[in-house]
Amino acid sequence: MVKIAPSILSADFSKLKNEIMEVEHAGADYIHVDVMDGHFVPNITIGPLVVDAIKPVTTLPLDVHLMIENPDSYIETFANAGASIITVHQEACKHLHRTIQLIKSTGKKAGVSINPATPVEMIKEILPDVDLVLIMTVNPGFGGQSFIDGTIQKIEQIAKWRKEKNLSFEIEVDGGINEHTAKECTKSGADILVAGSAIFGKKDRALAIEKIKQAKNL
Ligand code: DX5
Ligand code: ZN
Repeated sequence: MVKIAPSILSADFSKLKNEIMEVEHAGADYIHVDVMDGHFVPNITIGPLVVDAIKPVTTLPLDVHLMIENPDSYIETFANAGASIITVHQEACKHLHRTIQLIKSTGKKAGVSINPATPVEMIKEILPDVDLVLIMTVNPGFGGQSFIDGTIQKIEQIAKWRKEKNLSFEIEVDGGINEHTAKECTKSGADILVAGSAIFGKKDRALAIEKIKQAKNL
């Protein structure tokens, strides 16, 4: 069964606790936290203080997506704040292997992400070391963008390598996910679907999550 990670970037921040509790009760599997620094991406969002504040309001694992330069400097802080999974961008890491080991040394799960224009070959060597591969299906920075079709082939290639090399990392997709794009992604091998506007933009969050979960069977 595909897992759903609602991105709180599209939540109402004035009532973040309620928003998180609502999607947890609606069947979410993770809470996706988009951390942006205004350098790696042209937007500034959430820092470790917010991760720390939301940790006690949910039993779901916090899936922290770092869209920041120099992630090494902040990994320990996010780990202590309550992240369960910490994902860094290949494009932001000079020494990706070192960064992944640093995440693992905190006892957290380690993920690696690539932007739409980054070829999958850039993360081929690190695949045996990661718990999660996050394929960006939009250019990171904002919620509510349209899914980029060319990214489907990248999901398929990562899933193919996983099988060939007998690896067990999970494949997550992020950006422009709705009930229509979810179908293609899960058919291509995605295990976790991040969705912001398609969940928090809807009144009935349970229905929105159910529709995305069932997309594969459409
Ligand atoms: C984009 C973020 C996404 C974003 C997804 O940079 O990483 O997690 O919140 O939002 P939607 O689902 O609206 O495209
Ligand atoms: Zn994200």
